[in-house]
Amino acid sequence: MTELRSQGWYGGDGRDGYIHRAWMRRGSPDDAFDGTRPQIAIANTASDLTPCNMHLDEVSAAVKRGVAEAGGVGLDLPVVSLGETLVRPTAMLWRNMAAMAMEEMFRANPIDGLVLLGGCDKTIPALLMAAASVGIPAVVVPGGPMMNGMFRGQRMGCGTGVWQLSEEVRAGTLSPEAFLASDRSMVRSKGHCSTMGTASTMAIMAEALGMTLPGTAGTPATDSRLIEASILTGRLAVDLVRQGRTIADVITKESFHNAIVAIAATGGSTNAVVHMLAIAGRLGIDLTLEDFDRIGADVPLLVNLQPSGKFLMEDLYNAGGLLAVLAEVKDLLDPTPITVTGRPLVDYLDDQPIWNTEVITPRAEPLIEAAGIVVLKGNLASNGAIIKPAAASAHLLQHRGRAIVFDSIEDFHARVDDPDLPVTPDSVLILRGCGPMGYPGMPEVANLPLPQKILKQGVRDMVRISDGRMSGTAYGTVVLHVAPEAAAGGLLGLVQDGDEIVLDVANRSITLDVPDDELALRTPSPALVAGYASATRGWERLYIEHVQGADTGADLDFLVGASGAEVARESH
Ligand code: FES
Repeated sequence: MTELRSQGWYGGDGRDGYIHRAWMRRGSPDDAFDGTRPQIAIANTASDLTPCNMHLDEVSAAVKRGVAEAGGVGLDLPVVSLGETLVRPTAMLWRNMAAMAMEEMFRANPIDGLVLLGGCDKTIPALLMAAASVGIPAVVVPGGPMMNGMFRGQRMGCGTGVWQLSEEVRAGTLSPEAFLASDRSMVRSKGHCSTMGTASTMAIMAEALGMTLPGTAGTPATDSRLIEASILTGRLAVDLVRQGRTIADVITKESFHNAIVAIAATGGSTNAVVHMLAIAGRLGIDLTLEDFDRIGADVPLLVNLQPSGKFLMEDLYNAGGLLAVLAEVKDLLDPTPITVTGRPLVDYLDDQPIWNTEVITPRAEPLIEAAGIVVLKGNLASNGAIIKPAAASAHLLQHRGRAIVFDSIEDFHARVDDPDLPVTPDSVLILRGCGPMGYPGMPEVANLPLPQKILKQGVRDMVRISDGRMSGTAYGTVVLHVAPEAAAGGLLGLVQDGDEIVLDVANRSITLDVPDDELALRTPSPALVAGYASATRGWERLYIEHVQGADTGADLDFLVGASGAEVARESH
């Protein structure tokens, strides 16, 4: 083992070493500081205001036990937490802030290795972005999904159930009282959302990237096997430091390939795109929007989970979990990238049976032949947009319709149920001003609820287009992440009511069918600057001045890349 990074603080006979040891001693024997025991920080996103991560203190205690068993020193490091459902205006506005704060604390402290505890949507990507920019050894423990929601004898997916039942209320087929009574049936335990939403997708991403102990992702938060995995991960973190295996040794272009395959085969959230691009940017890996389409588009969907399917994460775990899914698509994986254990991911795919073929379908009987995310380009999205065909309606994947434009989500809510809104089932609903800069923060609002008069016709899906994101628990024929966004001068800002729009998923195109000379005469709606005009100070100001487009991960321009682990100056 080479000299531990923490010896830069604790080593030596000088006054500085004395100070660092003295304040940290608190009963610790000398071997806590003598360079034989790696200092492992447990970066913990537990918070009572991040309900999906409330239980991570228990996970942290188990990790700490494992660290001690392997001869390391485990250190609690509470970091910025983001609760998806509570944080306003959108947790995505704060992802980069959380990552920046975490990065600086990882670098500023005497840490040799990291165990990253996340769960709710933005927490794992923020932790990985931060750890990637520092570059010391790191491993993830995903906090795991909650128990299956059950309402009136049916599985009720967290998030997905809200969208479905609220639409039923609007359509008049479910009473408001029954709707309100369902919340406790949906969220029954600790853990993150039970569907294949963003949190589940981020856990799968972390494992497929090689950043977890293989077999850990998707372990339910209530399951004793999560504690076991946490103890083993604590031991592994000490080993990682002793081996000198860093995050850059594990996360490579090839491991992104495997993560894209894993997310497509499991029907993962579209939010994976923006987070993976941001993580890659921190590592200097040339991952592009096109890679998602090229690698993932033809991957079969093998997991029958809500929002596009029937079951929930607990069912997936019991059916064999991620490793059973990956075993089915082993030939599509790159065999070379290693995991945190030092062994390739594909080494863990032998003897991984499927225990329930309704939940995980065999490769020969996929739920959908080609399930990945499709990247669309055209004059309406010259830098790209995405759509998830697996969550869309097949009959709408080739569509021409007239635009109905909303300049903000507030504008949408004010007018959507206006009886005079000239909307038909063939209309294309446009929501703009919801990109990273425009909102600001790129909220999950793109899966617009359908107008009441359309719902009453029995229609449950329409083409929708936005520069915003969609919740991973949502579904529908929704074109997302349109770049450049309207507020940054994208053509989306020039669309007018009645314009014809052509969506052609098979040909990867999205077109505003208006002559160029007519577009040249148009100016963007003044309402598009309203969203970010009030961002005059603090993080929001910094964010709108530096945020990049969704097509490259919506990171801040000055956070892309790495600063490394070195700190040149002493504190005193
Ligand atoms: Fe936290 Fe869904 S709200 S994971």
